[in-house]
Amino acid sequence: MASTFETVGVVGLGTMGAGIAEVFARAGLTVIGVEADSGALERGRGHLEASTDRALARGRLTGDQKAEILSRVTFTTSLEDLAEADLVIEAIPEVMDFKRALFTDLDRVCKPSVVLATNTSSLSVTAIAATTTRPGRVVGMHFFNPAPVMKLVEVVRTVTTDEGLADEVADLARRLGKTPVVVGDRAGFVANRLLLPYLNQAAVMLENGVAGRDDIDAAMRLGVGLPMGPFALLDLIGLDTSYEICEVLFRETRDRRHAPAPILRELVTAGLLGRKSGQGFHCAEEPESPSPDEKPSASSVGVLGEGAEEFGARLSGAGFKLVDADDAELVIALSRTPVVELAVRLPHPGRLVGLHLVGDRVAEVASTVLTSPEVASVAHGLMRILGLTAVPCKDRAEFVVDALLYPYLNDAVRMYESGYASIEDVDTAMRLGCGYPEGPFEMLDRLGLETVRDGLRALYAEYRDPCFAPAPLLDQLVTAGVPSIRDLSS
Ligand code: 3HC
Repeated sequence: MASTFETVGVVGLGTMGAGIAEVFARAGLTVIGVEADSGALERGRGHLEASTDRALARGRLTGDQKAEILSRVTFTTSLEDLAEADLVIEAIPEVMDFKRALFTDLDRVCKPSVVLATNTSSLSVTAIAATTTRPGRVVGMHFFNPAPVMKLVEVVRTVTTDEGLADEVADLARRLGKTPVVVGDRAGFVANRLLLPYLNQAAVMLENGVAGRDDIDAAMRLGVGLPMGPFALLDLIGLDTSYEICEVLFRETRDRRHAPAPILRELVTAGLLGRKSGQGFHCAEEPESPSPDEKPSASSVGVLGEGAEEFGARLSGAGFKLVDADDAELVIALSRTPVVELAVRLPHPGRLVGLHLVGDRVAEVASTVLTSPEVASVAHGLMRILGLTAVPCKDRAEFVVDALLYPYLNDAVRMYESGYASIEDVDTAMRLGCGYPEGPFEMLDRLGLETVRDGLRALYAEYRDPCFAPAPLLDQLVTAGVPSIRDLSS
């Protein structure tokens, strides 16, 4: 018989749990919030108050609606109060032993027809289910931060989940105004499996000094249209949670890109966990970073590389004098791959920078080991005059944006190739779970499979790390001249 969901228990009222409780209460369900002690319970109540206050202040809720939502939520420190719940969702810290102990207790307390759900971001739902006497009634129900805003819910069914139960939970997610994607039980499911390696790689990039924190954040926001840069997002998710997810991914895959960046471990150990502790990569009260010192612009500029004529015309239009590269004070080499080879052919190698335009707002400006700091700062100033945000970076394969984007797109192809998720589910997950303007397969179509394949080859050639090797399917599609992965599934 199909389940009816009217009373829902939420265990753990941290940021995610409180957000999930709000989502259920907003949809008209009765919510029982459970925390370990009265202090944690009060903090949970505080999260809920703050979130609904925010909606009230923005005119998204009336005072009456807010009161009605809060009146649907009761708070308790006793699991026994969940005896009559139709669904219990767990949102406690990502520690398997805690989860298993909790599910053993829920198994004892809850009625036979209950659905037990975990909001785990990466741990095995199957292992959690196995601690109960009713693994058939256990699913994953994975929300995204901030839960009241992000539209995706990943519904995770295991090999032991009862037939039809995942679909019932997916219907419940629709009732909450969310879009469900039903997937199997793999570390990181769809969205975290694609998101966290990218965030981790950004941390490695920062650690290696390829580019700075704010520059990487700006490049991904303004260049790709992501709602947040990787460091702002790591701070939102929580560095401890991010670290844990990477650990779990690494344990399952042994892929070096999943091994948490050392800087994450250090920040977590220091208690700098992101927004929840007030400081992570960013600090709550941090002033805007000062603009770098920029020299007056160059009196003569040389432009090399593909698109040099068009970019040269743009510079002339802005009043710059174009001259031969050998004589220029500043040489701009339009490129998406390292430019030091071009620099060493010039009489003044220190005057050359690489330039890669990302969209119509971002200019990655790559300094080689020979580029003089003065020339780099002249180049940044020039980009500003052209109305572009300059992203200074080292002269490394694919610079910043493509180096972060292409492995993510490759992961999506691998995920599809393995049969884990459909093209549509992967695209939906990234758009609705992480606010991406387009899913990875939409992005692949726009950028072109060959461009991405070649970029991955360049990354592989530079770092010799197998994780950058193009997915076999991607390679084959390019070789066969098939323009889109979608052409396969139609
Ligand atoms: N709680 C409740 N509502 C919130 C909120 C919060 N913490 N933060 C923002 N909102 C609401 C605002 O009230 C506003 O709603 P309104 O339009 O009805 O007034 C709306 O969200 C937009 O907020 P803002 O205009 O203040 O801010 P932005 O436009 O900058 O959007 C954002 C904020 C929605 C967080 C956006 O930056 C975003 O989509 N970021 C990406 C978040 C993301 O990737 N989340 C997934 C992380 S991975 C994860 O959670 C999985 C886990 O397992 C790790």
